[in-house]
Amino acid sequence: MQIEIDSDRIQSGIDELAEISEAPPPIVTRVLFSKADCQARAFVQARCSDLKLAFREDAVGNVFARWAGEDVDLPAVATGSHIDAIPNAGKYDGVVGVLGALEAIRGLQRAGFKPRRPIELVIFTAEEPTRFGIGCLGSRLLGGVLMPEQALQLTDSSGKRLSDWLGEIYPRAGDLRSVRLVPKYYSAFVELHIEQGPLLERQGIDLGVVEQIAAPATLRVELIGEGGHAGAVLMPDRRDALLAGAEIALAVESAAKESQSPDTVGTTGVFRIEPGAVNSVPYRAVLEIDLRDTQLSARDVALRRIRENISAVAHRRGVEAHLDVINQDPPAVCDAALVQAALQAAARVGFSARRMVSRAYHDSLFMAQICPTTMLFIPCRNGVSHRPDEYASPEAIYKGTLVLARLLEQLAS
Ligand code: HGY
Ligand code: MN
Ligand code: MN
Repeated sequence: MQIEIDSDRIQSGIDELAEISEAPPPIVTRVLFSKADCQARAFVQARCSDLKLAFREDAVGNVFARWAGEDVDLPAVATGSHIDAIPNAGKYDGVVGVLGALEAIRGLQRAGFKPRRPIELVIFTAEEPTRFGIGCLGSRLLGGVLMPEQALQLTDSSGKRLSDWLGEIYPRAGDLRSVRLVPKYYSAFVELHIEQGPLLERQGIDLGVVEQIAAPATLRVELIGEGGHAGAVLMPDRRDALLAGAEIALAVESAAKESQSPDTVGTTGVFRIEPGAVNSVPYRAVLEIDLRDTQLSARDVALRRIRENISAVAHRRGVEAHLDVINQDPPAVCDAALVQAALQAAARVGFSARRMVSRAYHDSLFMAQICPTTMLFIPCRNGVSHRPDEYASPEAIYKGTLVLARLLEQLAS
């Protein structure tokens, strides 16, 4: 069976979706529940209905577009990714896995393929942590990793809770307890995604098949010092929250650099201070810290060091510190048979492929807890991602989409 993949159609979709942003092109910013997020959902929904896929949205905004198989009761084969984007992002992260999956389904339909199992595209809500500080909100709830009552308490930086947002955006949504999928709901999940690293491009390899996904942890540290007049409060009398935060940010860096594992990475990606006036000593600071490693033990050694530093700095500077571990997830191990099937699908169409680890996290991290999962990576220029100059060539996207189509054909037969 010949499968035609129209990479122009994928590219025009990527370009159109990139226009739906809270920032001027080429910057893509599409934060959960923003106007751009809602518009992007409508854009993709239209593409799903072009393919006559049965469309549903769950109580937290995960989107499901299903191609019914001959045996509708069989667990479906799932594929998909996300369309939300952090501030100052590019246009390929997540989007390639959604539009590529749509094109893979379209190619299979036009080739006359009749799936025995249903094939379902999933567009996960809030893969990025921007709104509530926790990534993969939708897939955590699907997998039962996050409890609905915990999720409803999540608040964004303005103090608005998830429950308030849901009431506004999905008034008909209903109860978050309806989100969790029953065991064996899917027979397999495959996510197509840009590598967000330089390996495939450096080695000139067409595809990466992911065997393991790094373990992420996210911390929020609130520091309460004492404010005051920048001219009047002498240095020995200060309890400056910003400087305490600065020492902690440097401690995050050294905990990662001094780790036994080369894969430990630590980032203080958010650092807010109050009142934020040049002539006023900062009395409050909030840091959001991202810490990861492919090995749980290495990550948790670094986490312990950071905790110790937070208390030492707070004590020495007379600043109150409140540490909140937002999430501390184990790494995911992908399904060996599915990895093998993906490598063989690439070989069948004559593309080179290699096994690899994902240092970025993805919804696959949680899908791996509910069904056999793997990811197909395609090269991205210089490994750049989470920046407006993120780029994947139409040829790379074509190859990833064709291999995805071949894998879905095999898994759904
Ligand atoms: O942060 C990540 O790894 C993903 O891009 N959300
Ligand atoms: Mn991302
Ligand atoms: Mn992503």
